[in-house]
Formats: sequence, C-alpha cells, structure tokens
Amino acid sequence: MPEPTLDALLHESRRFDPPAELAANANAQPSLYDEAARDRVAFWERQAQWLRWDTKWDTALEWEAPYAKWFVGGRLNAAVNAVDRHVEAGFGDKVAFHWVADGDTDRRTITYADLQREVAKTANALTELGVQAGDRVAIYMPMIPETIATVLACARIGAPHNVVFCGFSSDALKGRILDADARVVVTTDGQYRRGAPTPVKPAVDDAVADCPDVRHVLVVRRTGGDVQWTEGRDVWWHDVVDKQPDTHEAQAFDAEQPLFMMYTSGTTAKPKGILHTTGGYLTQVAATHRYVFDLKPDTDVYWCAADIGWITGHSYIVYGPLCNGATSLLYEGTPHPGDQDRWWKLVEEFKVTILYTAPTTIRTLMKWGHELLAPYDLSSLRVLGSVGEPINPEAWVWYRTYVGGGRTPVVDTWWQTETGAIMITPLPGVTSTKPGAAMTPFPGISADVVDNDGKPVPDGGGGFLVLTEPWPSMLRGIWGDDERYRETYWSRFDKTYFAGDGAKKDDDGDIWLLGRVDDVMNISGHRISTTEVEHALVGHPAVAEAAVVGATDPTTGQAIVAFVTPRGNVAEDESKGEAFVQSLRDQVAKEIGPIAKPRQILVTPELPKTRSGKIMRRLLRDIAENRELGDVTTLLDPTVTDMIRTNLSESAGGDGDGT
Ligand code: PRX
Repeated sequence: MPEPTLDALLHESRRFDPPAELAANANAQPSLYDEAARDRVAFWERQAQWLRWDTKWDTALEWEAPYAKWFVGGRLNAAVNAVDRHVEAGFGDKVAFHWVADGDTDRRTITYADLQREVAKTANALTELGVQAGDRVAIYMPMIPETIATVLACARIGAPHNVVFCGFSSDALKGRILDADARVVVTTDGQYRRGAPTPVKPAVDDAVADCPDVRHVLVVRRTGGDVQWTEGRDVWWHDVVDKQPDTHEAQAFDAEQPLFMMYTSGTTAKPKGILHTTGGYLTQVAATHRYVFDLKPDTDVYWCAADIGWITGHSYIVYGPLCNGATSLLYEGTPHPGDQDRWWKLVEEFKVTILYTAPTTIRTLMKWGHELLAPYDLSSLRVLGSVGEPINPEAWVWYRTYVGGGRTPVVDTWWQTETGAIMITPLPGVTSTKPGAAMTPFPGISADVVDNDGKPVPDGGGGFLVLTEPWPSMLRGIWGDDERYRETYWSRFDKTYFAGDGAKKDDDGDIWLLGRVDDVMNISGHRISTTEVEHALVGHPAVAEAAVVGATDPTTGQAIVAFVTPRGNVAEDESKGEAFVQSLRDQVAKEIGPIAKPRQILVTPELPKTRSGKIMRRLLRDIAENRELGDVTTLLDPTVTDMIRTNLSESAGGDGDGT
C-alpha cells in the first residue's frame, strides 16, 4: 500500500465501507437500528435476555429523572453471568484469558473453569475476611489474573468493588478508600513496569495508616522482596486464598445491587465515586461488546489494551467480554520506547482479531514508525477500536492502514465512566465510517447535540453533547453525594444528561466529538481536572496561587501546563530554579500520581486576572498554546500576559513525563 501523504491524511474525505464479508456475517445488521427505534425499552429487554436471570424483572424501566432503575424486580449474579454459566454450558476448557506478563517474562492460560475456581476461592477468602454483601472492597493492583479474580469475587458476593488505578498516589488512594468507606484493600507487594519491579504495597500502607476502618489488606506476592507487614491487618493471598475450597455457592442479587464504584475527576478537586449497578450495566456492556466489536466467541481473540484501573478495563476487559464468553489477551505491560514491537509480536502470535486501544497509544506507535509493523503478520485483525479521547483523522487513517492492513473497520467509540458502556459508535458491519467521527448513537441510545438553550442544533452545527433518554448502564449516582449528581449532570438542561463534551453534527447528521467543555483535561485518555492539579500545587508550602490549563499536545492529546506564583518569602532566584519546579512536579505526583505531573510549569510573579479577581484561564490557554491572545480588555493589568509570555519563551519546559 503506498504511503498516504500528510496532506491526503489531513484532507481525508473518503468514507470507509464495511468489508462485504464482515457485513454479511456481522452480529449487528442495519435492522438493529430499526428494531431499537421502534421500541427502545423493548430492545434493551431483548438484550437483557442474553444474561442469566435467576428471577426475571417485572418492569424494564422506572424513570423519574434523574433516577433510573432498570429491570426492576429481576435478580442475577454478575460473576455467574461472567463465568459459571459458560462452564455449565460446556465451555469450561475454553480460554478466558491468555495472560502475558510485562515484557513477556511470564505467561498463564486461564480457562473459564480455572477462572471459576479462582473466583470461588477468592470469594471464600473475602468472606473469611469478613466481607459481606454491600461492603466496599478497594482494589489497588496491576494487570494480573488475581485482579480479575478479585473483581469477580466481589461481584459474586455482592460487595461493590472500588478499583483504584495503580498509578495513583497513596494520597489519592486514601481519598478513595475513605470516601467509599472500604473495609478491605486488595493489593500486591509490587508490580513490573517497563521490565523493572516497583513497589506497590508502601502506597497502600501509607494510605491505610489514615483509614481506621480498613480491617484487612490482602496482598498478592508478585515481585517478591521485603515488605512491611502489619500483623493482624495484612494477610498474604497465598495464605488465605490458596487454602479455600474452589467452589462457592452464588446468591442472586437485585438488578439494582451496586456492582462497583469508579472514581473519576470532575470539575472540583475531589474525585466523584461513580456508582454502577448490576442488571442494566451487564446488559449494555455485553450488548455493545457483541455488536460494536462483532464478537464471535468461538473464533475471535479479543484484546482490549486498557488497564483494569479505568472504566474501559471494567467494561471491556472484564464484564463485557466475559459475559459474552470471549477469549481475550491480557497484557500486563504498556508500549514503551524500550519495547517498541511487543504489541505486533503478540498480535501475530495470538492471532488477535479485535484490538481496542486509545488514540494516544496509536499516536505513539505512529511516531515510532509503521516500519516496525512490517515484519509481523497482522492479517488476523478484523476490527479495530478506539476510545478515550477524540481521534484525529491522521491517527485514524494510520491505524486502519498500517495496523488494519487497509481492511479493517475502525470503530471510534465515545462513552464515559458515567455512561458505563459505549454510547456513540459505528457498527463495523453496518456503518460507512469517516476518519475522526464517532458517527451515530448505538441502537437504543438517544444522544443529541444542543445549543446553550438545550435546543438541538441543525446538521452542520455545533454545541453540547447530551443524552436525552435513560440507558441501562447509566450511572446511578455519585457515591454519597446526590446533590453533586443532580448538579453536575442534570441541572444544565431539563431532564437531559449533560456529558461535558462539545460535539458537532456534520452535514449528514453524523456526530464528531470535540473534547471537554468544562475544566476537565484529557491527558493520554486519562481524565484529570484542572482544579485537582491546582489544589495539589497550592498544597506546596512555597506556592501562593496556581492556575492549570490543558494545552494541545501532538501525542497525549492534551498536556498539563501550570502557572504558579510563589509566596512572597520565596527568593526570586530560588523560584526560577529547576529544583523548585521539580519540587512542584513532585508535589503533584504525591497528591494525585505521576500521570498528573504537568508537562510544563511556569513560575510567574502574577497571574492574569479580571478586575473582580478571577483568573483568566482562557488567556493562559492561549499563552500555553502559543496563540494570539483574545480580548484582554477585562484584565486588571494587561502587562501581566506579556510578562508571562516572555518568561515562557525563556523557560526550559517540562520533561513531558505523562506516565
Ligand atoms: O471527553 C470524552 C472523552 O473521555 C471522556 C470520558 O473519560 P472517562 O470517563 O475517563 O472514560 C474514558 C473511557 C470511556 C469523555 O467525556 N472521550 C471518551 N471517548 C471518546 C472521547 N472523546 C472523543 N471521542 C471518543 N471516542
């Protein structure tokens, strides 16, 4: 295939039709849209029937905005749906996960029968540790099979899990444990990152020191070596889990039983505990996984390269694929410069057919060059997915051309932690796709783009993305903060969910996502709020004020740029030094985690403010992106921006360390 020129990529106006064979045999045919349009709720009821229900629901939907209940009266067990029923149907020997350790230093093949035994043992162990239905369990673990067993064990006993991404700091973990009031924390001694062991448990020890209600810390030995041990509280996985019986009688729970909470950044410094329940969530993650990726459980090898610490991992590594009886590749590592062709080796060896990843990763792989892919046979791939941030047309076309060999549909899937499952997406056998567009709401989903007054914009117009009808996997609230739930999502427009994203409808009425319209940044597909980072920076004893903006970045989508004014007692020399900037960066890593470290920190004696004292972030964004400044007439002191600009051009910039 000839290499497309940059100009051709940027002005791509082709449509990419589904391959004929895929279209003919696709799980989702065009009639799926018609069926859902005729009766949305009946459509979801039919999707729910793919699950095993111990008791069928009486009422499919009870909706009193903004509170939805789906499949009311129904009872089911999430772990039974994910694992046991496949074993009972004779698929016990089928591989659930091909697990490959970071850098391929170890491997494990886990069948559905293996997973059933592991989940049963873990459920028995958690019960022995005193966990009961309704108790919250925090999980701070890398991408290893025990993490999946723990998640499913919690689901099995009705204990909502609260998985915290292992890249978050101990402070961030503590906040989440306390907010969720978790009673048990499951973790590892360490993890492998880019080939090297790094400790994990010390962060848990620090966090739990201030969490008096945590009764036990259950620790998987992953890296070996010394760990600090608190007798009575800390227990080894191999001591407690291994000895348990490998069967466990599962109880059915109400369809609205809380399944998990997942903390995500909002527009304030405090992350929100997004609550998901069981029946509706499983229905939608399984249905979207089946149709959006065209999953054929007998022949596909599916690889979602997310981390279980994020919603994508929950919905499309654990619950969706397992409910559909899929065989997945589970890779512990992430692409990094020292291991650039690992992904393609894995795709070739495992004959991966479906790959789901984020635009940031695609852009990184693209930067390393498509020549890296050439030695590998990637012809097994038949559907490629993208998630987490807007995908630029260049990355989309590169993905399809070089990873997909010019054959595969690319499905750009828009959704959020709050939506629980995919909401806007092409269907690979149906949709004629456009590079960079998420295209159309999934069948049974009602999305629109509206103006400031909540009126739908005409085709060709732009505005705010909203969801106008309840959907099965919608969040059921923010843990412990109902007011914030109503305020954040439901106050802007009447009885309509406000997603926080800007979007446009093109002339054909297809949807393009344009990024956040609030103070939430999207760094490598990770959601981080400007206020959260500002809060961390002003926690530094030498900082008087801080303003943070997200600036466009060619690889990570957005990058964090911080403007900091030091306290009066900090000498000018000191505040200009690299050591000072480094201490600020460390402060952010400590409070939130390394993922939130600013790419660039600019120390400045003043910030641009309006006469009423409001920091003008819009101007700072213009400065950070090196744009002409917009209107500065409302500024208290217009010379401040010139001063910042001069300082910026003199500053050394950051290390861009976003991981
Ligand atoms: O801004 C949107 C962006 O990611 C946000 C949701 O982030 P999070 O809750 O962490 O979930 C990420 C994984 C589902 C959205 O508000 N986003 C997600 N997918 C897309 C996207 N932006 C554009 N296109 C997408 N496909």
